[in-house]
Amino acid sequence: MNSMSSLIVLFFVSFLGSCFGAIPSFGMQSATEIRESLKDSDFRIRVQKGGLLESENFTARIANFKKFPALAGQDVQSEIAAVVLKAGKPFFKHLHPRGAETLNVLEGVLRVELQKEGINPEIIKNVLKAGESTVFPQGLFHDAFCVSKSDCRFNVVFNTADPGLVVVV
Ligand SMILES: *[C@@H]1O[C@H](CO)[C@@H](O)[C@H](O)[C@H]1NC(C)=O
Repeated sequence: MNSMSSLIVLFFVSFLGSCFGAIPSFGMQSATEIRESLKDSDFRIRVQKGGLLESENFTARIANFKKFPALAGQDVQSEIAAVVLKAGKPFFKHLHPRGAETLNVLEGVLRVELQKEGINPEIIKNVLKAGESTVFPQGLFHDAFCVSKSDCRFNVVFNTADPGLVVVV
């Protein structure tokens, strides 16, 4: 190939490249591109700096992708919450329509209940001590009660960036 035709091929290839570059990407980025744009400190997720959800019986700090971008990407989907449930108090019955939850008890003794599917649902009941965990499958009702004389502290981690919350009315 002489230099003139090489030049034409080169021009054509770069022209094609600019055409593809002009195709709208709808903001989609590859996993690598997303990570490239993050700083080391973005991978230090301090849940106590997350959003605050307060109720008369509990306080929850929630870290999600809005403040901690490392929690959502093409290959990462997570949300983390740190909860303090007062001694002798219940956490309201709820479900997460878009995600499964793993709960890890850090302090206190927590009774947890999980409602199975079906028209006559059984309830799966457990009493968890510090260091113990449970899972709540996506879309199933669950609740908790702090049975200890001291407050219960637990962390929850979701397998999705946007699990959602549905309560019983
Ligand atoms: C707080 O706990 C009490 C029981 O001690 C309960 O009656 C009340 O409904 C709970 N509040 C909320 C908002 O869940």
